[in-house]
Amino acid sequence: ASEKQVKTMRILLAFPRGFCAGVNMAIETVETALQWFGTPLYVFHEIVHNQHVVQTFSNRGVIFVNDIDEVPPGSVLVFSAHGVSPEVREKARQRQLRTIDATCPLVTKVHREVRRFADQGYTIFLIGHAGHDEVIGTLGEAPHAIRLIQSVAEAETVEVPDPDKVAYTTQTTLSILDAAQIVARLRERFPKLVGPAKDDICYATQNRQEAVLAIAPQCDVFLVVGSQNSSNSRRLAEIAASTGIPAYLVDGPQEIDLAWFAGKETVGLTAGASAPEHLVQECIRLLQEKFGATVEEVFLREEHVHFPLPAELRLVPSH
Ligand code: F3S
Repeated sequence: ASEKQVKTMRILLAFPRGFCAGVNMAIETVETALQWFGTPLYVFHEIVHNQHVVQTFSNRGVIFVNDIDEVPPGSVLVFSAHGVSPEVREKARQRQLRTIDATCPLVTKVHREVRRFADQGYTIFLIGHAGHDEVIGTLGEAPHAIRLIQSVAEAETVEVPDPDKVAYTTQTTLSILDAAQIVARLRERFPKLVGPAKDDICYATQNRQEAVLAIAPQCDVFLVVGSQNSSNSRRLAEIAASTGIPAYLVDGPQEIDLAWFAGKETVGLTAGASAPEHLVQECIRLLQEKFGATVEEVFLREEHVHFPLPAELRLVPSH
């Protein structure tokens, strides 16, 4: 009742939000590699899909590349959290690069599943988004055995050599709602479909989406902090929007248009798995300054996941 009396803005801040264990590990990997090897340090693809993180490392002498040929032979190269195909690993070997693998272990798990199914002669439906770094890497494990499925419509029409020998895996950062629909449709068409217990959507994606779903019904507008090329961040904004409110994905306070909040009382706020917390806090400060917003953190569940640094960085450096 009190919220009706004072018409100040209220921010419902999702917990958990922001950095996941894979992103923490990947960033820590680049930090440690910088300490060990100095610059120039090469990273294949954006270490995580966040403009701010990438820019900060670039300013410190990290060079992000999209092609192994751009890396001078003998250099140190970090593979990003999204993983790489065997072909990229092989190219790096041929070029005699010293590689450090910051692939998230939950992505590596999907690569292993794909290899196992492919070895057993299955056709594998990979549910994911074409062109995403993670999907490109996973496809590379068994290009001939995989069918990429991006939508229910594609699940309707996909053809396979043997409908009784089909498996599926998913990109780790899909919408839990979309993935469930696509898997259900595949199961109807291919009753012998095998796959992971549920899907390969990671714990962090799932928790951040569930937190948004829990808060959004109380909100008038939703703000997600994350970069446009961050798959999991985009899904958070989509999921908020699917509840019928406007939702905006911003890299930070500088992208906020104050008009979005005119007359809005309750603002949902979260951050994608690659978005630094200080950007969330800067957005909060802006809304506090402009609208006198108060903040309430809404707790969904705790996370206790931690990934160690890649093996290459657990030994004493040789130079
Ligand atoms: Fe890994 Fe999931 Fe983060 S796959 S990098 S824990 S979003």
